[in-house]
Amino acid sequence: MAKTERLSADAAGLFRAGGILRQGGLVAFPTETVYGLGADATNADAVASIYAAKERPSFNPLIAHVADFEAAQVQGLFDETARKLAEAFWPGPLTLVVPVAKTCTVSDLARAGLDSVGLRVPAHSLAHALLVEAGRPIAAPSANRSGRVSPTNADHVLGDLDGRIDAVLDGGNAQVGVESTIIACLGGAPRLLRPGGIPREAIEDLIGQKLEAASDEGENPLAPGMLASHYAPRARVRLNATRIEEGEAALLFGASPFDGVDGAKAALNLSKNGDLKEAAAHLFSYLRQLDASGAGIIAVSPIPETGLGDAINDRLRRAAAER
Ligand code: TXA
Ligand code: MG
Repeated sequence: MAKTERLSADAAGLFRAGGILRQGGLVAFPTETVYGLGADATNADAVASIYAAKERPSFNPLIAHVADFEAAQVQGLFDETARKLAEAFWPGPLTLVVPVAKTCTVSDLARAGLDSVGLRVPAHSLAHALLVEAGRPIAAPSANRSGRVSPTNADHVLGDLDGRIDAVLDGGNAQVGVESTIIACLGGAPRLLRPGGIPREAIEDLIGQKLEAASDEGENPLAPGMLASHYAPRARVRLNATRIEEGEAALLFGASPFDGVDGAKAALNLSKNGDLKEAAAHLFSYLRQLDASGAGIIAVSPIPETGLGDAINDRLRRAAAER
């Protein structure tokens, strides 16, 4: 593949993107969480090319994106809890893992051979328009090379995948900034597979029960693909830093968390007023910028573990994990 087309966020761009997807090509597109690398989920060859472009080491199950709840119900079976969650949070940054329906058209490869399917109805208007244009479920992991930081704009996507995918639909910056919350509703208590854009508390309030956590250490078959080391910048990441050493890059949170960052190679504040929503939106792009400073270490100040802080800390722990 020679060159990756940058498509504009208009009718012509959408038409072109939809055509490429229907023909089995790869198109990166914006969602409200991060940019996804899309392929026709019903076409196993197209899905295989996602893994190739990302250099993803194993066939993890992918999320199938659909235009609305009705389209989701063609693919999966929704029990009472799943239905409640879908009605409350779709369209939005929630993925539901449910048993496959008899009418499911998502390929085995996209589901990694499981008898469940991960479904999401994104809230981004361009993503919605593209799903309507494509007229089929679109499998889409984050549009980065495997193990790298997730992209929140079209330049990030091209930095990682230029020449490896057919096109990127340019819709500016992703608003939420961390991936969707993943909940498995497979009979029995619903389980949190990945913290994300919808805070756990909001989900627990709605369903009136605590979510069981599926740990990603060990061999929990519910959460394949949740590698401990993931979302990794080139620099080493040092968490809960209470001071910045000379030459480190600093990822800050809140009002003046340190006395000074004068010796830092670069410093960015996720949110000076301690707003976790603002912090999530900046997270991946700031990690990229600090990485580009050339510092060997990115020191990160402590971030509260509530609301979206859950997802932010999860991604930072993965970025900091041994690799
Ligand atoms: O926000 C997001 O969710 C983004 C945007 C592009 O929509 N997508 C994304 O996809 O983060 P990805 O491929 O990184 O997340 C896939 C994860 C898998 O690693 C797995 O944990 C879970 O979704 N998953 C998908 N289908 C599953 C299934 N049938 N069973 C268990 N887990 C599943
Ligand atoms: Mg990813």
